[in-house]
Amino acid sequence: MGNFTILDHLEDLHPGDQQLVQAAVKATANAYAPYSQFHVGTALLLDNGVIVTGANQENAAYPSCMCAERVAIYAATAQYPGMTIRKLAVVALRGGVAPVVSAASCGPCRQVMLEFEHRQGSPIEVVFLAPDNRWVKTPTAASLLPFAFSKDNL
Ligand code: THU
Repeated sequence: MGNFTILDHLEDLHPGDQQLVQAAVKATANAYAPYSQFHVGTALLLDNGVIVTGANQENAAYPSCMCAERVAIYAATAQYPGMTIRKLAVVALRGGVAPVVSAASCGPCRQVMLEFEHRQGSPIEVVFLAPDNRWVKTPTAASLLPFAFSKDNL
């Protein structure tokens, strides 16, 4: 809980994490973000080695918008039922153009990551860029959401 590592440069991440970040950057091209102009990309590494990506999808009815993280997670579970997510990377581009900027996941996305982690019974590592332009790596989704609501509360 509340456990993370901070790295100054992308090159300081493990090669596998860098590769996942690059896949997330590429995925920003699939964002539909005419309202925010904030193009978010997420890449997941599954236990079968497959990388599934997602990008935010907006709508004129704003509450219908969906974040890149949940697009990727729901796509992965729909296409690979029973799979395990090992790692998740998330980045954003303002206006769809470089440089990569911070996209620290919103609360609802953290909640969804957390429940997937509980369901699969193994950790999801998360990599993202913090607002101060340093990379954050957490060993679990739970690290991003201390004192979370869970089905154990029901
Ligand atoms: N967004 C994401 O896709 N992921 C995040 O972690 C934060 C926000 C999207 C939602 C909306 O389309 C746009 O970014 C601006 O909030």
